[in-house]
Amino acid sequence: VKHIIGIEDLTKADIELIFKTADNFKQVINRPIKKVPSLRDITIANLFFENSTRTRLSFELAEKRLSADIVNFSAASSSVKKGETLVDTVNNILSMKVDMVVMRHPNPGAAKFLSERIGAKVINAGDGTHEHPTQALLDAYSIREKHGEDFKGKKVVIVGDILHSRVALSNIFCLQKLGAEVMVCGPTTLVPKFIGELGVKVEHNLRKALEWCDVANMLRIQLERQDMKYFPSLREYTMLFGLDKKLLNSLDKKITIMHPGPINRGVEITSDVADSDQSIILQQVENGVAIRMAVIYLLAGQIGR
Ligand code: CP
Repeated sequence: VKHIIGIEDLTKADIELIFKTADNFKQVINRPIKKVPSLRDITIANLFFENSTRTRLSFELAEKRLSADIVNFSAASSSVKKGETLVDTVNNILSMKVDMVVMRHPNPGAAKFLSERIGAKVINAGDGTHEHPTQALLDAYSIREKHGEDFKGKKVVIVGDILHSRVALSNIFCLQKLGAEVMVCGPTTLVPKFIGELGVKVEHNLRKALEWCDVANMLRIQLERQDMKYFPSLREYTMLFGLDKKLLNSLDKKITIMHPGPINRGVEITSDVADSDQSIILQQVENGVAIRMAVIYLLAGQIGR
């Protein structure tokens, strides 16, 4: 692939190559000297039109570990506020000799739109409710680290606001390509009808979903993307779909708990679950750097230099 727009475009072999490359970079970033000189001749622009902590810092660290030159752009403090378009903004940045663009944008399709109009490589760091490919890659990589390389027969449930979640869609594509069984669980109002057509199981009872799975990926309710009058209140949501220690301990097996962050502690997950020995939430964040190094490195290999 020429750009990383979505997991939908990747093959199982592409994903496995990214994992093997990330394995090497994970060794690098655990050394006293965490850098390699691989991308000394590459310049990358990180364009964030929407808030981010993990993805923005993780891409920036990945680029620095690869010795790339970087520029960071935040829409909130830019001339976008004066009415400049996305393509004008990016073309102005590219005229400063930028080779690759990492972009987060609130509009689904923004990364693809950009990739068709500019001469640089594009990595989607989350486009609205569409895809968040590097999140799905680091999530699957973290499952692989905990449960082994063979995803066949692994059961993963994604719990929560499926309707507004780019993490859910990218995870579904990624886990299915790797051979895992995927279930989504949430209130009927937050599970879109088309999801059943993707070949995932749908469950509206959290206990049944947790009894079925090996891994539960607990999503945040995306309050910023919805009109609350159509959805259960947060209190109702927590009562029906919140995971607490009592429920977790009542299961007859030790499932793995994941969360892409940011966590709304006490809503979708309690602190004692998020911080328990069954949680791999911080390992996910750690793995994000190695995965993003791998994606950037592999794409940069296609740039004539
Ligand atoms: N998981 C994730 O995308 O987090 P941020 O929004 O903080 O980047």
